[in-house]
Amino acid sequence: MRPQFALPLCAALVATIGMPASSDTYQDVKIAAGKSLFDAECRLCHADNADDASYGPPLENVLYRGAGTFEDYDYSIALEASGIVWTPAALRAWMEDNAGFMPGTKMRHVGIKDRTVQDFILSYLAAISPQDNTAASD
Ligand code: HEC
Repeated sequence: MRPQFALPLCAALVATIGMPASSDTYQDVKIAAGKSLFDAECRLCHADNADDASYGPPLENVLYRGAGTFEDYDYSIALEASGIVWTPAALRAWMEDNAGFMPGTKMRHVGIKDRTVQDFILSYLAAISPQDNTAASD
């Protein structure tokens, strides 16, 4: 490479390396961490893909979905009649103490109290919820 080309290239490299990680990078890291946590804490009973059968309802597109509304799943009466919408706050409360949040649910108790862990799992659940359910749940 001739010297007059090398200089701008170096400048570009320095600019790239010196830049703070973008918010996209943070988001990617959170989603990846969330997937690992989901695999460890939730995957046993929940698919992240509506075509996969699992013991619990699939959680694809769960964000802002009405509770108990995935058509092919046999929910408890408690969940089906709850009338709640899976907002981030509701999902947090559910992860923290699902049985306390909704007595009568048939989901085994999970007790994830660490907000950072909840955040990661929420990032992952948002990432697998490309469908905009907000209009339907108004
Ligand atoms: C031991 C199995 C099991 C584990 C582990 C589990 N779940 Fe569940 N989950 C269920 C079952 C069963 C239901 C249906 C409950 C009902 O009908 O009352 C459910 C329901 C749900 C719902 C309601 C979905 C809807 O369509 O309304 C959400 C949200 C949910 N689980 C999230 C999670 C998350 C997040 C984790 C991991 C932190 C998790 N679950 C771990 C079995 C499990």
